[in-house]
Amino acid sequence: MEHHITSPDGTPASRFAFGTMQFGGKADEAAAHAMFEACLAAGVTHFDTAHIYTDGASETILGRLAAPVRDRLVIATKVGHASGASRATMLAQFDASRSRLGMDRVEVLYLHRFDPDTPLEETMETFAELRQRGQIDHVGLSNFAAWQVMKAACIAERMGFAISILQPMFNLVKRQAEVEILPMARAEGMVAACYSPLAGGLLTGKYARGEGGRITESRMYAARYAGDHLHRAAADLATIAREVAADPATLAVAWVAQHPLGAVPIISASTPAQLGPSLAALDFDMDPALFDRLSALIPAPPPATDRTEEL
Ligand SMILES: NC(=O)c1ccc[n+]([C@@H]2O[C@H](COP(=O)([O-])OP(=O)(O)OC[C@H]3O[C@@H](n4cnc5c(N)ncnc54)[C@H](OP(=O)(O)O)[C@@H]3O)[C@@H](O)[C@H]2O)c1
Repeated sequence: MEHHITSPDGTPASRFAFGTMQFGGKADEAAAHAMFEACLAAGVTHFDTAHIYTDGASETILGRLAAPVRDRLVIATKVGHASGASRATMLAQFDASRSRLGMDRVEVLYLHRFDPDTPLEETMETFAELRQRGQIDHVGLSNFAAWQVMKAACIAERMGFAISILQPMFNLVKRQAEVEILPMARAEGMVAACYSPLAGGLLTGKYARGEGGRITESRMYAARYAGDHLHRAAADLATIAREVAADPATLAVAWVAQHPLGAVPIISASTPAQLGPSLAALDFDMDPALFDRLSALIPAPPPATDRTEEL
């Protein structure tokens, strides 16, 4: 069964989501407002935040911006990033999130990451309880391996609900999700909302131009995108973008959005000016030859069953 995520007034979740991880960080309230309005104008109705983002400012700002149009939005937040997925943690964090958002309920609640120290039964029971209370519509899992998702899905099924949406990392240079997560999501009818479609900004081409940003400022992102081959791929993407007269960010987001395994990019930006090229991907019709050319920038990961040589 395919899961359809809709807003309170029945508006379907948009083809792109917008991530508000920068709200209250690099994006102050005015910048957040401008980006929110640009998203609405482009038809984006799905907004993503998390309990952990910017010490709660992301949820607080999103809640204020969303209030006038709440009923036509899909709001997703996440609990359990650093402190595990016990019932007590999930309920306490979700209560804080609802209060910051100024919302009784949200359409999607994710567990932010797998917690090896809490039995999945306890986590799934907590999700079931929140569904029963009418505080969430859909259960999501982020940063889970496929076997962890399927284990959770089996437990959820016994409890009478399903995992509707996953949130893996996925972009032109980080393609692990192609191996198991995206095929599983497609087979199980789960939505795959993919974060970091620009590889945290690498795929904008700005690092090849010697400019700074998250990857030079954050040790975690510097480590994640340290490989020379990733930087070479970003430079090659910029060359192709010049050739086809498009922005590299537009190509990178469109590649995720038009991936045959069906991914919903969660776009984001630190400033309204940065957001334009990502939103432009909504209208960029990528022909199969260009899609293949971009796919060839980094070798595809081997399939889960390996034996690549025989394919
Ligand atoms: N579940 C998870 O664990 C997880 C993890 C990460 C993100 N997320 C979600 O996914 C959303 C998107 O992730 P992401 O922020 O990593 O996405 P991304 O699209 O890969 O990176 C966005 C960043 O790239 C830079 N950028 C974007 N457009 C640019 C442009 N035109 N020119 C120059 N730089 C540009 C900006 O960073 P700088 O200006 O700082 O360089 C911007 O904040 C987040 O907001 C969050 O909701 C979830």
